[in-house]
Amino acid sequence: MRVALALFVMMLFTPIDKPKGLSPPASADQTPAPSAEKGKRLYTSNACYFCHGTLGQGLGVNGSRIGPPSRALAGFTTYVRRPTGAMPAFTDKILADADLADIYAFLRTMSTAKAAKDIPLLAPLKGK
Ligand code: HEC
Repeated sequence: MRVALALFVMMLFTPIDKPKGLSPPASADQTPAPSAEKGKRLYTSNACYFCHGTLGQGLGVNGSRIGPPSRALAGFTTYVRRPTGAMPAFTDKILADADLADIYAFLRTMSTAKAAKDIPLLAPLKGK
């Protein structure tokens, strides 16, 4: 009787194994965090650099400075999907929202431009 009781109590506290192979791995349903490294590759392979420069620094009339981005991710995505000027549109068939988040993460690694007065090399030209 005691043995049966002990077995019963053990059963109560024994965790029931989940059937293996049925549940997805813990990370499968989580959206991966945006990756600046992947973004750099997408930025290059989708030719953003062609108009905005390899570092998003802008190339004058061809494309404005976009690194670091001046808009929040939502505004950035909206603009790239439906640009208002000379830029070609990149629909979600070309770049998924997650891809744009990666590109955004890459552009965020850029530092803001220094003011001309803060660049020592330009000081001698002042007033000329
Ligand atoms: C063919 C040239 C060209 C390419 C390629 C291009 N852009 Fe642009 N982009 C422009 C121009 C020009 C503008 C300035 C506004 C306009 O005319 O649409 C612009 C504006 C932008 C802006 C708005 C900047 C602001 O004022 O906030 C964003 C963001 C942007 N581009 C992102 C991208 C991304 C990301 C890619 C690649 C997926 C890309 N662009 C590819 C030409 C280009």
